[in-house]
Amino acid sequence: MNQGPDRIDYRESADITEVHASVQREKPEPSADTTPMPLWLTGVCAGAMVWAGTYFGVFHGGLSANVYNEYESSPAVLFPQPQKASGKGAAAEAPQSLAQIGKGIYAQCVTCHQPTGTGVAGQFPPLAKSEWVNGSEKRLVAILLKGLQGPVTVLGAKNSYSGNMVPWEGSLSDKKIAAAASYVRSQWGNAAPEISEAKVTAARKEFAGQKAQWTEAELLQIPEDATLPDAAGAAAPAAGAAPAAQAAPAAPASSGGGADQLAEGKKNYMMICVACHQPTGTGLPAVFPPLVKTPYVNGAPERFAAIILKGNAGPFTIDGKPFNQIMPGQEGALTDGKIAAVMTFVRANFGNTSGPVTPDVVTAARKKFADRTTPWTQPELDAWKDDAK
Ligand code: HEC
Ligand code: HEC
Repeated sequence: MNQGPDRIDYRESADITEVHASVQREKPEPSADTTPMPLWLTGVCAGAMVWAGTYFGVFHGGLSANVYNEYESSPAVLFPQPQKASGKGAAAEAPQSLAQIGKGIYAQCVTCHQPTGTGVAGQFPPLAKSEWVNGSEKRLVAILLKGLQGPVTVLGAKNSYSGNMVPWEGSLSDKKIAAAASYVRSQWGNAAPEISEAKVTAARKEFAGQKAQWTEAELLQIPEDATLPDAAGAAAPAAGAAPAAQAAPAAPASSGGGADQLAEGKKNYMMICVACHQPTGTGLPAVFPPLVKTPYVNGAPERFAAIILKGNAGPFTIDGKPFNQIMPGQEGALTDGKIAAVMTFVRANFGNTSGPVTPDVVTAARKKFADRTTPWTQPELDAWKDDAK
């Protein structure tokens, strides 16, 4: 490097201050303290926080795992609506269904019956598809209240269990037992109707004298079709309606298309049909057909009733798209009034605008096809002779 007078700056100017000035121009003096965050960045951060909070507030779905379960999620879970002012609506649309509450209670059953209701071979019987779970509501409630011991057959002769299930009447309230029963009836392919708290209360009263755990033989003495008195006190073998009766939503559903029937229909749709046909009736592509504007929904009520009663078997073409699954019949699970209500609900929603259906249409169809044991095929449905129309 050049030194002395040969240095480049010396040649131009010997003034030291000027030399320093040129150096200082290049690098500004660093400031000693910190600069505040720019205002715009503060604004962006605040905006992001507000957005995140709002997003979470709208979409938290009660932090329920069900929100992301395609078979259980519903718009009602994702976008909870403020309760309607009418007292009746508020009672019918309680924030959590029994089955949702039951999910928590099932934690007490899960060690034995397993998270997916399969049980443990040879030790704990399955609840999925079990005839004890999906069959007589009275037997199921009896089992939960008092427990079960000794040999029991679940899902056919080869699956015999001989264990011991403790009674739950001491540790679970009527509501919790109703919730657990409703939950297991709605999971793992089970699609039996829920059991109300009032029914459990009635059963607790009726079986008050039963001290020991049930044996299978004793349970089988309860008739398969025995029902428990619900809120309205209908079909009440035991004296008097339960005190909790008024709390549960009543379900008259006898008139055609009234608000009650629609609400009842919606409830049953959301319990049974929703798993396959989805909350908005659109079905699932290539698996479950839509109920939107199809002739089977909007055509002859008798045919629609027949479909719900006996189910369908593929192949099926809807809107030019093929489906090939089985829809299970609901004749065992739903009463005529409930089927009429579901039909009325479907026919008045999802873009459909067909008229209401009265229960006697379903009663007549049930009678007419009483001997039929197989699901319908599409050719049969398309050749429908509707003498009621
Ligand atoms: C400690 C293990 C255990 C727990 C906990 C338990 N169970 Fe069971 N459960 C059994 C056994 C064992 C049987 C079969 C009893 C027999 O062999 O007589 C049974 C039978 C049943 C049955 C009738 C048979 C069937 O598979 O359908 C139902 C329904 C049932 N349990 C539901 C429940 C529910 C609901 C809960 C939770 C509230 C629960 N169980 C908790 C062990 C248990
Ligand atoms: C387990 C799934 C499942 C459930 C639950 C179910 N369906 Fe279906 N449904 C199907 C399938 C699958 C088909 C098409 C038949 C086929 O592929 O064989 C079908 C067909 C139909 C059809 C005729 C075709 C159409 O799209 O119009 C109607 C109507 C119908 N279902 C109504 C109902 C109603 C109402 C309920 C509730 C009571 C219900 N389904 C419950 C699976 C189901």
